[in-house]
Amino acid sequence: MNVGPVRIAAHSPAKLNLGLEILGPRADGFHDLVTIFATVDLCDSMIFDVLDGPELVCAIPGVAAGENLVLRALAELRTTLGPTSGMAVTVEKRIPVAAGLGGASSNAATALVTAQAMWDVQLDRSELDRIALRLGSDVPFFLHGGAAIATGRGHQLDALELPSNLRFVLVSPRLFIPRKTSTLFASLQPRDFSEGEMLGEQADRLRSGLPLNAELLANAFTRPLYHLRPELAELPDIIRSAGAPNVALSGAGPTHYTVLDDMERTTHVAHELRARLGARADIIVAAPLRTRYHDC
Ligand code: C5P
Repeated sequence: MNVGPVRIAAHSPAKLNLGLEILGPRADGFHDLVTIFATVDLCDSMIFDVLDGPELVCAIPGVAAGENLVLRALAELRTTLGPTSGMAVTVEKRIPVAAGLGGASSNAATALVTAQAMWDVQLDRSELDRIALRLGSDVPFFLHGGAAIATGRGHQLDALELPSNLRFVLVSPRLFIPRKTSTLFASLQPRDFSEGEMLGEQADRLRSGLPLNAELLANAFTRPLYHLRPELAELPDIIRSAGAPNVALSGAGPTHYTVLDDMERTTHVAHELRARLGARADIIVAAPLRTRYHDC
């Protein structure tokens, strides 16, 4: 019998990669990387309802049931726990899908955290982290949220504090790249690899209370992404011509963003980008979220 709450509404935040260096391939088929993750106040809304029967139900438009990470998260949790009540999950998507913003991983982490509350169980942190990593390399980060420097597959996390005045304008091109993440990892060449020094320097700055250095936002996927989709190579110039002081790529893309520290300029850049890009991209203004539980 279910003893936890029967309905929970939760926010599920997007992340940005504030720089992403790839060190090289690992023996397990993944790559070692260094990145700074930051959750931002662009969130999907999720509603969880306990069901009488044992079914796990979650339909996300455009996502096949076999690839639905929310369903996989609930199934993995149930495998660990044994029999539980069923669950229906509704996801209202605001985070662009397959865009480098971690939406699916965030939804999976939200499902792990929320289902524990509804099923009235509390796995210890390391067990929950292990389940999260089976779902995807950046799912463990979303269990914590806020900002963190990540190493290993992206799952070894060390929390950071971001300056609270940071604002981001996200430019999310409306294009679909099949099997994007694995394709881009497979397209990396030795010249795309680095030692993680830039991200280490950025993390040291943040730990010392210094402002974010936009010159340290390099992303190893930039070259292979522009090679795969040459039409994206003009985006940095378009973003700069709209008044943006810097341009960076999030995850394996295709979302680009600029970092600013005053709201007036942020609003101006967003307005100019909407005028320049029209239906080609979603333009979204966002701010850092200190924890994953903050209101969006
Ligand atoms: O872990 P995730 O499901 O996000 O990974 C998707 C694909 O991206 C993996 O199958 C792998 O090809 C690649 N990947 C990688 N190294 C990482 C993360 C992902 O090679 N650290």
